[in-house]
Amino acid sequence: MTEPWTATVVTLFPEMFPGPLAHSLAGRALADGLWRLATVDIRAHAADRHRTVDDAPFGGGPGMVMRPDVVDAALRAAPASNGAARIYLTPRGRPLDQARVRALGAGPGVTLLCGRFEGIDDRVIDAHALEEVSLGDYVLSGGEPAAIALLDACVRLLPGVIGSAEALAEETFEAGLLEYPHFTRPADWCGRRVPDVLLSGHHERVRAWRRDEAERLTRERRPDLWRRHVETAAHAAPHDRPRKD
Ligand code: ADE
Repeated sequence: MTEPWTATVVTLFPEMFPGPLAHSLAGRALADGLWRLATVDIRAHAADRHRTVDDAPFGGGPGMVMRPDVVDAALRAAPASNGAARIYLTPRGRPLDQARVRALGAGPGVTLLCGRFEGIDDRVIDAHALEEVSLGDYVLSGGEPAAIALLDACVRLLPGVIGSAEALAEETFEAGLLEYPHFTRPADWCGRRVPDVLLSGHHERVRAWRRDEAERLTRERRPDLWRRHVETAAHAAPHDRPRKD
C-alpha cells in the first residue's frame, strides 16, 4: 500500500497539533488514515541542560533568534519523507495561494518548520533549502496557526476527504474567481428575498447568474484576481470569456 499524505510539524509547541484539525473534516480523515501527522519538538534537540533554543541577535536589536544548531537537529529528526515539500512559515515568504495548496496536496506531504521569537537564524533556512511561505501580510505570534491553516487547506483536497469533487470545482479560486453568493430556505427572510432566478428552476439561467455574480464580486473586491482572470480567459473559448468592463 502507498503511504498516506504525511505532515511533519517541527515546532516548540507540539501540543498545539492537531488542535483544531482534530475536529471536522480533517480530524475524521486523520482518524480514517487518509493522512498522517507527526510532530518534532524543537526543544528536545537543545544541547544544554537549560534546553536553550534561542539567543540574542548578532548586530543587536529587539527579541531573540532561534539557534541554527538546534533547529538543524530538529529538522534532521523529522522522519524522512522522499519528495515532501519543506516549508518555513514566515510573513516574509511567498503568499500561499490555492494553486500552491493544490500542488502540495498532490505531493507526498509536507514538513513545516514553525518559528517563534523574532525569527530563525537565516543559515539553517538556507542550509536546508526551505521554501518560505506566508499566510498573508500580517504578523502572527508564531508559525503554528499558519501551519494549521496550511494543513487544513491541503487535507480537504485529499481524495476521499470531501465527498463531492463538484463542490471543490465550484468553489472560490478554483476558476480564478471569488465564489457566487449562496441562499437557502426561507425564500423570504425578514423581507429579504432570494433572487428570483434561483427559484426559476431554469438551470442555464441559474448558471449564467452565478457566473455574473462571481465575476462582479471578483471585479469589485479583488482587482488583482480579476486582471489575471481576464488575461487567462483571453486565450479561452469565446463563450467562456468574461466581459472586460
Ligand atoms: N508567522 C508569523 N506570521 C506569519 C504569517 N503571516 N504567515 C506565515 N507564518 C507566519
